[in-house]
Amino acid sequence: MGLTRRETKAEVVSAVNDQSGDYWQSHYDSMAHHESLDLFDAESRDYFARLQKAIDLRDYERVLDFGCGLGFVSGLLAPKVGSLFYWDYSENMLATARVRLAGFPNAQAVDLSHPGASEDDARSLNLIVVNSVIQYMSEDDLSTWLAVWKSMLKANGELVISDLILPEPAFLREVADSLTFSARQGFLIRTLLKNFAQYARYLKARRDAPMSRYSKEHFLKLAVRAGFTVDFLEENLTYRTNRYSVKLSPIPD
Ligand SMILES: C[S@@+](CC[C@H](N)C(=O)[O-])C[C@H]1O[C@@H](n2cnc3c(N)ncnc32)[C@H](O)[C@@H]1O
Repeated sequence: MGLTRRETKAEVVSAVNDQSGDYWQSHYDSMAHHESLDLFDAESRDYFARLQKAIDLRDYERVLDFGCGLGFVSGLLAPKVGSLFYWDYSENMLATARVRLAGFPNAQAVDLSHPGASEDDARSLNLIVVNSVIQYMSEDDLSTWLAVWKSMLKANGELVISDLILPEPAFLREVADSLTFSARQGFLIRTLLKNFAQYARYLKARRDAPMSRYSKEHFLKLAVRAGFTVDFLEENLTYRTNRYSVKLSPIPD
């Protein structure tokens, strides 16, 4: 059932529907070949450093990077884990990630376009990471994926979801976080000049197809309904301070 913005203001803004979902998919499809990569590379390294502080990757043998994008994070994960699986619904993103991951014998793309179709997927993973992806899903899709992720995890496996956006608008804070991050990385001028068009395209995309946002209470409800316990991490795993991250553990069936 679709929820309108007005009805759900305090709890959830489930802005993504079939139409805007398709919009975001084609946005990422067209993006794979055209964007400047240094910002994505820096953001991935920053996320990965935070992830390593939050969990010890040596504890996880079989890991899935869900919504892997251009494959930067997968490329950092692969040397640290036994087997790294990666998937993105954008064919172009996945193709780019494949090229990036070609040198890692333990990394393998998987096809989750028909989740649950393969018995091999069941209860096989120790860790699933989902960074900066949930905002492109409708609430129904999120609920479906939570159930699928649970079915893919071993009993003691874990699901780390990051960069969940809170419902309160925080446009200026996001811009400030972005500029501060870029300045710390030492490419403020480049961000303002070379990456400006890229950032403007992203902002336009956000205006045309708003992202889904969840209060912590609402997210908790969805995760518990899907059969997880939820640990809210003290800090988000990206530099965006109006967002949050969670570590989910399956409740035994
Ligand atoms: C902002 S990028 C994040 C990429 C990567 N996780 C990272 O941290 O660099 C979002 C990615 O999620 C993918 N995505 C969005 N919704 C998805 C879905 N329902 N299934 C698979 N991938 C999805 C997009 O195609 C895009 O590549």
